[in-house]
Amino acid sequence: MNFFRTKCIDKLKEGAEQQGLKKSLGATDLILLGIGCIIGTGIFVLTGVAAANYAGPGIMLSFVISGLACAFAALAYAELAAMVPIAGSAYTYSYAALGEIVAWIVGWNLILEYSVGSSAVAAGWSGYMVGLLKSGGIELPKAFTAVPADGGLVNLPAMLIALLLSVLLVRGTKESVTLNKVLVVIKLAAVFIFLALAGPKVNPANWSPLMPYGFSGVAAGAAIIFFAYIGFDAVATAAEECRNPKRDLPAGIIGSLVICTILYIVVAGVLTGVVPYQQLNNAEPVAYALRAIGYNFGSALVGTGAIAGITTVLLVLMYGQTRIFFAMSRDGLIPARICKVHPRYGTPHIITMAAGIAVALIAGFTPIGIIAELTNIGTLFAFVVAAIGVLVLRYTRPDIPRSFKCPAVKVIAPLAVLSCGYLMANLPAETWIRFGIWSAIGFVVYFVYSYHHSVLNKAEVAGKE
Ligand code: ALA
Repeated sequence: MNFFRTKCIDKLKEGAEQQGLKKSLGATDLILLGIGCIIGTGIFVLTGVAAANYAGPGIMLSFVISGLACAFAALAYAELAAMVPIAGSAYTYSYAALGEIVAWIVGWNLILEYSVGSSAVAAGWSGYMVGLLKSGGIELPKAFTAVPADGGLVNLPAMLIALLLSVLLVRGTKESVTLNKVLVVIKLAAVFIFLALAGPKVNPANWSPLMPYGFSGVAAGAAIIFFAYIGFDAVATAAEECRNPKRDLPAGIIGSLVICTILYIVVAGVLTGVVPYQQLNNAEPVAYALRAIGYNFGSALVGTGAIAGITTVLLVLMYGQTRIFFAMSRDGLIPARICKVHPRYGTPHIITMAAGIAVALIAGFTPIGIIAELTNIGTLFAFVVAAIGVLVLRYTRPDIPRSFKCPAVKVIAPLAVLSCGYLMANLPAETWIRFGIWSAIGFVVYFVYSYHHSVLNKAEVAGKE
């Protein structure tokens, strides 16, 4: 049995050309797609939670640590994305560089990242929407807005938003990207309104002590607010739909990451500067901080922008998820029937709707805390493997043209592995256990189904006959 068989990069490209996804995206589309996925629940919700419980005002430093880890990983991602412009991001890269079984487990964990992440974001969206409706005088019954563990029956708004966005994605990438652009502008406006109103009210006394729980608190904060950066890799999953992936993908990934990192550090600084960090442990810390300094209208405006922001995150995460499935089913690792492209819309409609229903079911019935924790570990794992992949390919395939090269790869790639590994090490033990269980299930599926149905396996068997 050959678990480490690899895909040939040229075949990967050929296969993608035959599938015929529409090539409609340019560099600006990709940067907006990236920002659309990156700025969301992380900055609007988790910043406050992490500051209050772990890092204090040192959350600014947590963002620097997490941002650095992402920057190292992004450089590796960008080289691979420009070299192997195929749907599936880290999954596809590891298939070419490290072998099928590694690719499978990376893809399996990316499914975890995108599905579980989408479900957590959908649940967060629901919370903000319910809150906004309530402040407008419309109170929805708890039975239909909370999961059973929180005393409700089902989180209906979370399910509805997940299903609605799936339909939109089936209708076509270009339309979804257009909506994404509008929502990104609204979301950035919300961030800037916050900074303009709250910035002048910063009281530097609130930044002291900077690290009330010591450096370990800052590190734990970094592991959690890593969630805020998740999404730049979704840009890489759109490779097949780019007009000029070699030039535009690195620009999209690195551009969106740099913009978001700067915004995060500034927002975190202002947030912990206007109110004592202990007060930030609530569902809407940014809106809360504005109310606390007397800007009620500004707070409602920013709250509305946050809903727009969270919607775009959900849209791009769900988009990325379907493209991972698409790539894996095309390789035969999951049933190929489900990756059929819709004749009119040019999108993988069956898997898009199936994934949407799965996200809706998880979000409708599972507590957000449990599902959110898992997201980070799966993502960090994929980043570690991608960084190793870029190094391996430099040695095994130096001949492949690289329109973007990771600078000082022998330093950056190991730094990506170490920094992402460090963040993983700072996640709770329960998260590691769930991650282990999910991976174990993945291996069972691989040996029972995927190994035998793999397109590479069929080629091997045919070669022997
Ligand atoms: N980065 C995304 C967010 O913060 C997942 O919501």
